[in-house]
Amino acid sequence: MRFTDKIVLVLGGNSGIGLAAAQAFAAEGATVHLTGRNRATIDEAVASIPGATGHMSDIADIPATEQVVRAVEQAHGRIDVLFINAGVGGFAPLEGITEADWDHVHSINLKGCVFALQKAVRIMGEGGAIVVTGSIGAHGPLEGNGTYAAAKAGLAMAMKVFAKELLPRKIRLNMVSPGPIDTPLLHRNPGMGPDDVARLKDMMIANIPMRRMGESDEVAKAVLFLASSDASFITGTDLLVDGGLIELS
Ligand SMILES: NC(=O)c1ccc[n+]([C@@H]2O[C@H](COP(=O)([O-])OP(=O)(O)OC[C@H]3O[C@@H](n4cnc5c(N)ncnc54)[C@H](OP(=O)(O)O)[C@@H]3O)[C@@H](O)[C@H]2O)c1
Repeated sequence: MRFTDKIVLVLGGNSGIGLAAAQAFAAEGATVHLTGRNRATIDEAVASIPGATGHMSDIADIPATEQVVRAVEQAHGRIDVLFINAGVGGFAPLEGITEADWDHVHSINLKGCVFALQKAVRIMGEGGAIVVTGSIGAHGPLEGNGTYAAAKAGLAMAMKVFAKELLPRKIRLNMVSPGPIDTPLLHRNPGMGPDDVARLKDMMIANIPMRRMGESDEVAKAVLFLASSDASFITGTDLLVDGGLIELS
């Protein structure tokens, strides 16, 4: 029960890794607020988490994020743990990248996440903990992943800078970088049908030293560790949860 009496905001908490983390935080005593864009899955998520509150809010819409933070402030006066997890995929080789796709991915995965941090940290105090979802895409080049990798690599360096800026406020900020995790994200890649997804999965598994994909709750466990006082001397790190893909390949 590491999060008893803690107020936790999960941005992107209605699916995959974010949902697993939101459920795990609540199971360890937290009061959870979560966001997403999809009303139906927000409602399902809230129904699965005792005491949770859902907010329909697009992280690319900065005033909307500010409104969520104000709602949490009105309800509890503070955020103790912030998990910035919202993200979208976007595969295209160099010649196929469009400006619209680039801007869409970056408005969510980079700009939206940075401004979410700016807005939410306003109501965080000493001892607060922030975890941000990065990606192994920021650690190694994969053909077709330029748009997404650039956003996550930018996010990783920006978050290191902000971790340093938050030291005087005694707020820790860390990242988790998942490898291939079996979540709905894989099925949401534009232009990829079920057969393409199955082929992509086989290709990924063949390359992962542990020869399997990860599960959302395996990432959630890393998130909860970094967000908890168990990680009290850890800030500015980027924890790979990738079956050895980056370090052992
Ligand atoms: N799965 C992997 O293999 C993998 C690998 C490396 C990194 N990641 C990262 O892990 C994070 C979670 O992804 P996942 O795999 O769990 O995928 P997912 O099941 O598709 O979940 C993505 C989450 O982000 C939310 N989200 C997306 N765009 C949003 C927006 N504009 N505003 C607010 N919320 C938004 C989604 O909410 P809605 O459903 O309502 O849009 C959902 O809650 C992402 O940052 C992703 O880049 C995943």
